[in-house]
Amino acid sequence: MNITVVGAGAIGSLWAGALARQGHTIHLWRRQTASVSTLHWQGLDAPDTDTFTFHCNQVDLLSRSDIVLITVKAFQVSEAVRSITPWLCTSTPVIVMHNGMGTENEVLQLLPDNPVLYATTSQAALRADNHSVRHTGSGPTYLGAVNTAGELWHALAGVLNTALAPCQWHEDIHYPQWQKLAVNCAINPLTAIHQCRNGYLAEPDFTAELTAVCREVAAVMAAAGYPTRSEELVQRTMTVIRATAANYSSMQQDVANQRPTEIDAITGFLIEQAHHFQLATPANFALWQQIKHLEQNYG
Ligand code: PAF
Repeated sequence: MNITVVGAGAIGSLWAGALARQGHTIHLWRRQTASVSTLHWQGLDAPDTDTFTFHCNQVDLLSRSDIVLITVKAFQVSEAVRSITPWLCTSTPVIVMHNGMGTENEVLQLLPDNPVLYATTSQAALRADNHSVRHTGSGPTYLGAVNTAGELWHALAGVLNTALAPCQWHEDIHYPQWQKLAVNCAINPLTAIHQCRNGYLAEPDFTAELTAVCREVAAVMAAAGYPTRSEELVQRTMTVIRATAANYSSMQQDVANQRPTEIDAITGFLIEQAHHFQLATPANFALWQQIKHLEQNYG
């Protein structure tokens, strides 16, 4: 298939390389103006490496894409979608994959005719520099439609699954998105504030705060129609903390590099939903405030 990957950060590069290894033709759409880009791809097992050269920013390749995969951060999604719409065929399925929630309505407005799908992934990757990416952790990816046209594209879960298993189709993608949001609400701000690896949050000092965050997320999820036991969210969070103990979270890295974080799409989305349902989320609000403070004080 001809696949355009929009955004070549850690997750975009991970998927671009994994899909290229399956024989798909990858084209990158990114802010850098270069027309080709080399990627050194390193799999989970150290000797498993590959090098690819991808075409970039070619409008004819974009318009001939069989799939577009958007992997930019939540706050860049709208701009990314606007940048492709002049050349995008209305029949091309567009998959949006990012941490957090809250971009869907705008994407659906910008792409009223395209099949639109969202994916949430627990795969982890690290970008050492502009030209290399390392797969640092494996976890499930879920794919689901957010409009009627998207519902015809179940087969795309198979395409993603062949590249980086496991990937499953989900009839209601909001459910796995909420479950991942809970994990991100717990891990991302705390690792960014303490500038620590994910594994550090397994220390007993963090138990009360992680529990409070998950309890608030469970209450908002229940109000949104996804009743979930908060113990289950704590357990899910602890599993991710252990499985990714040696990794730095995306928000830790954003703060370390003084980049804008995804706090508004993660904790901010939760707070907004809580407000809508008239629920209090003091533990999450405190974390949101601390990250906002850190962002405002970048040098
Ligand atoms: O944002 C991240 O880094 C990841 O989604 C997660 C699950 C927190 C693991 O680091």
